Amino acid sequence: DIKGFVFDLDGVITDTSILHGTAWHQLADSLGVAWSEELGNGLKGISRMDSLEMILKAGGKENDYTETEKKKLAAQKNTNYVAEVDKMTPANILPGMKDFLDSLRANGYQLSLASASKNAPRVLGKLQLADYFPKIVDPASLKKGKPDPEIYTKGAELLNLPPEQCIGVEDAAAGVAAINAAGEVSLGIGDATELGAANMVFADTILVTLANIEKQLG
Ligand code: G6P
Ligand code: MG
Repeated sequence: DIKGFVFDLDGVITDTSILHGTAWHQLADSLGVAWSEELGNGLKGISRMDSLEMILKAGGKENDYTETEKKKLAAQKNTNYVAEVDKMTPANILPGMKDFLDSLRANGYQLSLASASKNAPRVLGKLQLADYFPKIVDPASLKKGKPDPEIYTKGAELLNLPPEQCIGVEDAAAGVAAINAAGEVSLGIGDATELGAANMVFADTILVTLANIEKQLG
């Protein structure tokens, strides 16, 4: 039986995946690295420094910067991203997600957050959802990011639940791979082809309801 839900944040609860993408796109432009939708999608769920590495690699520039310079570039992206986050309000919660969280609470499910973002507490605050997630995996504590299972394993541990009693909720292929490797049930939100490895996929957040999930679990 499912007793808990381990949530990704960006692109699942709110539309920040777009803000991350825009901020990285800007940085790629300034570095002369060609942007593509594929590059942008591949960055979803990937930590800040790993994302920068992927962008540099895409442009054949992985050896062009020192560690100090790379940290500066990542900080520059983060400054731009945070400026956008600070404009957010509860209106930025994706359609249906507040109702879904409320129904999970009302039905006694436990919730934790497994976001790679160091800005997750800030984003939850802006959305006025901090109360829903007293249990957040600290991304700074991770040895490896998604698609490694570590973040989802820790998400279930925070709930004191075995992984098979948890559903992991993701919008990114790297995240779905992490959930599967952690032995949890994977729920993907987005493109069914991109998220083909998930146990269930919903095209849109509005479709993510307990009733629809129960149908899929059979
Ligand atoms: C999430 C997003 C990624 C982002 C990562 C780190 O996983 O999907 O796009 O790069 O968090 O976010 P941060 O806010 O710490 O730079
Ligand atoms: Mg995400």
